[in-house]
Amino acid sequence: MNHYCDSAATMPILPEVWTELQKIHEHSVKKGINISSVHACGHHFHQIYEKRLEHFLSNIGATAREWFWTSGATESNTWALRIALLNRPECNHLVLHPLLHSSLLEPAMEHANQYGLRVSFLTLDSDYQISFHNEHIDHNTIVLLPIGDNEIGSLQKDWGVIEKMKNSGAWIHGDAAQSFGKIEMNFSKIPFDSVTISGHKMGALIGIGALYLRLRPQKKVVPIFRGGGQQFGFRSGTLPYHLIMAFLAAFEVWHSSDIRERLKYIGNRMRDTCKAHLITPVYSCLPHICTIYDPKWSTKQILELATKLTYSQGSACQKGKGSEALFKIGYDLNAQRRIIRLSLGLQNFEDIEQICQIVQDFLNIHPDHH
Ligand SMILES: Cc1ncc(COP(=O)(O)O)c(C=O)c1O
Repeated sequence: MNHYCDSAATMPILPEVWTELQKIHEHSVKKGINISSVHACGHHFHQIYEKRLEHFLSNIGATAREWFWTSGATESNTWALRIALLNRPECNHLVLHPLLHSSLLEPAMEHANQYGLRVSFLTLDSDYQISFHNEHIDHNTIVLLPIGDNEIGSLQKDWGVIEKMKNSGAWIHGDAAQSFGKIEMNFSKIPFDSVTISGHKMGALIGIGALYLRLRPQKKVVPIFRGGGQQFGFRSGTLPYHLIMAFLAAFEVWHSSDIRERLKYIGNRMRDTCKAHLITPVYSCLPHICTIYDPKWSTKQILELATKLTYSQGSACQKGKGSEALFKIGYDLNAQRRIIRLSLGLQNFEDIEQICQIVQDFLNIHPDHH
């Protein structure tokens, strides 16, 4: 049996999400669901949508005007950067977190190169925390940060340093693709102008994400798609009702059951098993990520582990190119080939002890230096 430990890449769909989809299924094989249309069928589903959305938004401290559905975190990040640049037309400085996902890093670097913007990277301490910044930050600065990074699962514990940047006038965007749902988040209280969210990282379906855009103070929005005028005219296109319902059902599970605590428990169990090889900072980390490294592991050993566990390798998702984020924290391509990211999901509540045993056996094998 191969155990799935790659939920940070994509999490298996939650059973509650399937139940939700089955409820819709019976209707949708007979009639189409377009919640923007004015006929009775569209209106019926629009009412269900509005009620569910309102309930969801009240749980996260956001309003309907601040919430845009997208196809996923990649789109949200691209859009967020365009909105930031529209609101800060004099922007001359991008301040980036070293562990930024490529869907933010690449468009940011491209823009900076094209328009000659200064780029600086925040300094992290040994726990991968932004403990200070010595950059000049003002109204013409855009700061891009992960709210929990995908490579090693670090999570900024004290947001005071982000608040300071915000108070200096910077525009702050946060990428919560890995953390949304898994940690408590009240959007009315966090120091971000915009936040990226991904559905499939929390057990909804692939193809749905969101962009939160704080309304106060008032912001300008650049439409990402024009056409039918859906989503206040800023993202045209028929709303994907099934995907949205899957997203809302998944969030409901994270929000109103004990799975956050249980995921933290199995994550800690995993990190404890691997503590001698851990890169993930236990001081403050995402509950589901456990990234480990040993310079002596051979490719053969790592491949053998892959016959028992499904995981991501440090350099894997960049198609062998290596991860910029891992380079930035000191792991060259050779080292990245020996980085293993195990990431857990709800499916692992059942098999965590077997996984820990497999990892324990792997760690006990004497490295064979090949
Ligand atoms: C931090 C982060 N941002 C963005 C993305 C892109 O997510 P999506 O697949 O929803 O576009 C990922 C996916 O791995 C991620 O981990």
